[in-house]
Amino acid sequence: MVAEVLAALRVVPGGRYVDGTIGGGGHAAAILAAGAPTAWLYGCDRDGAACDAARTNLAAFAGRFEIRHDNYAGLADWVPLSSCDGVLLDLGVSSPQLDEPVRGFSFQHDGPLDMRMDRRQPLTAAGLVNEASADVLARIFWELGGERNARRLARAIVRERERRPFEKTRQLAELIERWHPRLSRTLHPATKVFQALRMAVNDELGSLERGLAGALKILKPGGRLAVITFHSGEDRMVKDFGRARARDYAFNGGMDVPELREPRAPELCWVRRKPIRACATEVAANPRSRSAQLRVMEKCKNR
Ligand SMILES: C[S@@+](CC[C@H](N)C(=O)[O-])C[C@H]1O[C@@H](n2cnc3c(N)ncnc32)[C@H](O)[C@@H]1O
Repeated sequence: MVAEVLAALRVVPGGRYVDGTIGGGGHAAAILAAGAPTAWLYGCDRDGAACDAARTNLAAFAGRFEIRHDNYAGLADWVPLSSCDGVLLDLGVSSPQLDEPVRGFSFQHDGPLDMRMDRRQPLTAAGLVNEASADVLARIFWELGGERNARRLARAIVRERERRPFEKTRQLAELIERWHPRLSRTLHPATKVFQALRMAVNDELGSLERGLAGALKILKPGGRLAVITFHSGEDRMVKDFGRARARDYAFNGGMDVPELREPRAPELCWVRRKPIRACATEVAANPRSRSAQLRVMEKCKNR
């Protein structure tokens, strides 16, 4: 969704932009090219290999970017506050992460059950699968994967790990295949469980919650935040964040009672109420983009 992102962020020469999920630097290169010769980019990624790849791939723009191996949740700790014209978060995993068996993200290749985006962190998917209680696993599979057989599957994992701890991706995928009839031609039965484990290992919703708040802090008034999600829980969090910060009133507690509303200035507005989807040509070239949703917000001028 490169063209959509450039339009959403209104990239111009002299602007300051942030790519909080720089990956291989595809979007970052497009931002630096569209903002040539003077736009500046702060970039980060939790994955050290992605940061190295981005530095190499952005060599042509040397002197116009700074990349840190970091979680975008901490952007406001190092990017100057109220300084940026646009922030991009393109969530989820990258193709190199999925394609590299040793990273353990994919059930299509056999590799260590790892799934850490940041390999400095101690918790791996094997650690979670071998140590967490059946209740915790079931909650992860249900809440992050929407897996209907979450409880049954969690109990089967606990039984199996008493016999032989889980170490490899195929070992887990084969257990899921045994427990799960293949209902759809396109969706492998392990897809949701692997996605849920990845999100739990990397605390992806926790990072998103902190990252959205931080992004708003580093934007200038009038600056834009563009977020691409691939998961309904992430999209809901972005939508709820935008709705709450676009309100011109606050309310205490969980209930919005009109009589108890306290007026306040909104912090942002939606650039478009509905999410932007990848066009048919992009979906044909990259089927993963089928589930991508881009939401765009603008920080209010008076903030
Ligand atoms: C879909 S890819 C981004 C691809 C990138 N936009 C490009 O054009 O190449 C997602 C990237 O986000 C990174 N990531 C996910 N969560 C992150 C977080 N909380 N902080 C920093 N990077 C994160 C992943 O490591 C991965 O490299």
